[in-house]
Amino acid sequence: MKNVPIIVLDFGSQYTQLIARKLRESGIYCEILPYNEKIETIKEKQPQGIILSGGPASVYDKNAYHPDNAIFELGLPILGICYGMQLLTQHFGGVVIPADHHEYGKAQLHFEDTCHLFDDTPDGQTVWMSHGDLVDMLPENFIRVGYSDNSPYAAIKSTEAEIYAFQFHPEVYHSEFGTILLKNFAKKICGCESTWNMGSFAKEQIQKIKEKVGDKKVLCGVSGGVDSSVVATLLHEAIGDQLVPVFVDQGLLRANERAQVEAMFKNRVGAELITVDASEEFISKLAGVTDPEKKRKIIGETFIEVFDKEAQRHDGISFLAQGTLYTDVIESVSVKGPSKTIKSHHNVGGLPDWMQFELIEPLREIFKDEVRKLGLELGLPKDMIGRHPFPGPGLAIRIMGEVNQPDLSLLRKADTIMIDVLKSNGYYDKVWQAFCVLLNVKSVGVMGDNRTYDNTVCVRMVESVDGMTATFAHLPHDLLDTISSRIINEVDGINRVVYDITSKPPGTIEWE
Ligand code: XMP
Repeated sequence: MKNVPIIVLDFGSQYTQLIARKLRESGIYCEILPYNEKIETIKEKQPQGIILSGGPASVYDKNAYHPDNAIFELGLPILGICYGMQLLTQHFGGVVIPADHHEYGKAQLHFEDTCHLFDDTPDGQTVWMSHGDLVDMLPENFIRVGYSDNSPYAAIKSTEAEIYAFQFHPEVYHSEFGTILLKNFAKKICGCESTWNMGSFAKEQIQKIKEKVGDKKVLCGVSGGVDSSVVATLLHEAIGDQLVPVFVDQGLLRANERAQVEAMFKNRVGAELITVDASEEFISKLAGVTDPEKKRKIIGETFIEVFDKEAQRHDGISFLAQGTLYTDVIESVSVKGPSKTIKSHHNVGGLPDWMQFELIEPLREIFKDEVRKLGLELGLPKDMIGRHPFPGPGLAIRIMGEVNQPDLSLLRKADTIMIDVLKSNGYYDKVWQAFCVLLNVKSVGVMGDNRTYDNTVCVRMVESVDGMTATFAHLPHDLLDTISSRIINEVDGINRVVYDITSKPPGTIEWE
């Protein structure tokens, strides 16, 4: 069995996956295991080093989380991060106490040159602190190797063994050299090599899918978006014709989208795509419905019904594949805001009890930009990889109020023009997402010598990394001018264009 160079034991920090992600960026493979994983399992994986993650608990609590203490006897290098540092301190006989003030935010880190964890990084670098407890007294044979204004023991190490600890979080974006610090631990202290890449990830996932699926079949809903296309491609490589890829045309797609998705699938993924035209079903169920959540619910339920009906038509389908990403998982468990409801029908919420499928989610541990890299690795075309996200409920949540064919047609025309202007001016790839919303607000205008009384379109363009937060895109006014005049001149029925200058939070990206 291949060894797992670094094992990350998870003590419940919301940042644990980021540790894995940073290591992957440096080409180092790692696996995240529960904090109390049995020593036998850890040994089987023949790690070269162990990282203890942060976590919300206090080490002096009665119910504090503790790893199998045998990990300390393996003689392997260990790096403790935040809670992990406090655990190491306590285990080796030091003292951890509650801090007078929770330290949360950026700090400047100063360090000793003798510690190789800091190689190739500058003194005074910014690190991210987020802790309520701190080390008050070091264990015997431990020394301080780094400090900040508020943390006298920002980094410590043992003088007897390769045991290190950080009070700060090297894995979060705000720790400016965090990737190098983690790489130094893996490469310089543990002796790992950078051999991992997206190609190896693809191979592992394909192997896992083969083992899990056996001779059964997998239904995979595809939308033409990056995530589902990457999932379908992985599945097709793994199980060939046992993949049943289904594209549901819910009648809420953008102009020409169905033809584009079908062509892309045929040319690039290679699998035989089944298109189900359910547009009449969706549109008739949406008739007269204006409440945004009701619309979403109807669409979500109808999707499930359509998939179920399609699954009945094939023998031997035991699995349903989804393009759930790690950000969907975090959002669904930790965000109490609107995104939770937004995502629930679509991805992480799982399946209704009556559906007997097992889920396959090969992207569950990676992030959107990693999925894009994986897609390129699998040979998907660049324009597909760079496609802006498009929500499952489609244009229905971009038409305020009731959804009907005339409004869908207006919105499609406006959207096509906006995207065309962005692409032809080189801005499509510069914004994270761009779309039009039909506001169902009429206003008075003048065209030629005539009065108009027509619809308003709102242009929404945002910058974001993962859709969890976003700012409206600061685009040149000339570009907005072109979009506005082209839409008003070319789309009969629209006489006003406005630009959305709301960030998320407090707004959401979609209007409904
Ligand atoms: P919000 O509106 O929550 O959107 O700020 C964040 C990102 O998610 C997309 N979105 C969805 N994607 N199913 C999806 O697949 C949905 O139900 C859904 N709702 C929103 C949205 O387009 C944005 O990129």
